[in-house]
Amino acid sequence: MAGNTAAPGQAQWSSKAAFVLAATGSAVGLGNLWRFPTEVGSNGGGAFVLLYILCVVLIALPLLLAESLIGRHGQRSTIGSAVHLARQSGASPAWSLLAVVGLIANTAILTFYCVVAGWVIYFIGTSAADLIGAIGAGEPLRGAFAPQSVEQIQQMMPTLFANPFLLVGLQFAFLVVTVWIVARGVKGGIEMAATWLMPAFFFLLIGITIYAAITGDFAAAVTYLFTPDFERALQPGVLSSALGQAFFSLSLGGGAMIAYGAYASRETNLGQTSGMIAFADTGVAIIAGLAIFPIVFSVGMAPDAGPTLMFQSLPTAFHSMPGGAIVGFLFFVLALFAALTSSVSLLEISVSWVTEKFGVSRGKAAWGIGVPVFLIGLLSALSFNILADQRPIPFIPGFENATWFDAIDGVTGKLLLPLSGLITAVFIGWVADRKLVNAETGLTGGGLAAWRFLIGWLCPLAVFAILVIGLFPQLLG
Ligand code: TRP
Repeated sequence: MAGNTAAPGQAQWSSKAAFVLAATGSAVGLGNLWRFPTEVGSNGGGAFVLLYILCVVLIALPLLLAESLIGRHGQRSTIGSAVHLARQSGASPAWSLLAVVGLIANTAILTFYCVVAGWVIYFIGTSAADLIGAIGAGEPLRGAFAPQSVEQIQQMMPTLFANPFLLVGLQFAFLVVTVWIVARGVKGGIEMAATWLMPAFFFLLIGITIYAAITGDFAAAVTYLFTPDFERALQPGVLSSALGQAFFSLSLGGGAMIAYGAYASRETNLGQTSGMIAFADTGVAIIAGLAIFPIVFSVGMAPDAGPTLMFQSLPTAFHSMPGGAIVGFLFFVLALFAALTSSVSLLEISVSWVTEKFGVSRGKAAWGIGVPVFLIGLLSALSFNILADQRPIPFIPGFENATWFDAIDGVTGKLLLPLSGLITAVFIGWVADRKLVNAETGLTGGGLAAWRFLIGWLCPLAVFAILVIGLFPQLLG
């Protein structure tokens, strides 16, 4: 890659498009398939979707550009890159706090991300067994889980939750694969997955959406997703959930986008690539919503079922679908790859910092960080059974009923990622060398002016306001 002088130990990608592919691979994952529909359902449908899109366009997109330019300029670990830009701008290296918060948040997210990815593995296993059964019976093109009733399919998640050993084993398996990939250096496998499997996944998802549109209650789903209830939208919890989801889904908040920005070549127009990444990620989330909600309404599930929503609605669709046994199996395999291209970006942040700072090998760093990630992840895995009654942070508004799983997910998504984003916006908008920053964006004229306004004014003010309202809802009366 021309002009790309990465710090030692930094993996390199082979093509110019690699940054877009890697960043999109990081962005598209369980956040789109699993977390987006869950949050939509828990926050009243259309109200949430509208706020989510506003947050993506007005807050997340400008920050995506800000983060990727920090990375490309720095060519170091996330913290190293932030320190570098601060020093070059004659500012305090303490601005790298944005990346410190990001590193903590990313590592914490990985702890529960492995748990949810474990559920995906469970469905790969059960659909593989089902597919083998169908082939054995000479009916490979039948629907998924044909011998079971819809009620029994809905029971699969509760059954899994009742088995802590299996849950933890699956969480462990996913983490081991993630650590193994990161330990070997990010290149080969992940680049392949991002280049070939992600597009394949996208087309499969569109096919499933078309099927859901034809057989499910598509009209109800569209009304639900796109008719905003403005009263609901004004509730403080909905707004901070929408912002948190925008950060989570775009892998923002002081982590992946700085790290992957370092892989972008000098010629890459970061303004353009940021737009592409945000567009692709939001598109996948909406399409996933359009695949899941028609089924939710046609079988009479509650849209606010919580984190199990996707894992209960999609298998139901595969059940009635001709060839569903094969489609379901393929879907979960590709979803696993989508999760892996995201989880490696979550782990990469701390690993590249530890290798840079302490000079240890990638392998040692990755396995060493994997151990605490697994142990803390146990709290999330066991939130669905043994620890289901524990409420770790009842004193924080909005977290009164949160389990460990909800707490780690909520604190990282709604507090830490936006906090890092707030520091990034102030740093890039006000502190960092203007000329240098503007040149990195690839933007000119009106585009540049708009971005400067968003990153300097709207992002910091809006994120600050949402954080404060989220923490002190009583301020709104
Ligand atoms: N965006 C990913 C998803 O949607 C998850 C993810 C990867 C992430 N890296 C991140 C979330 C960094 C927050 C911060 O599945």
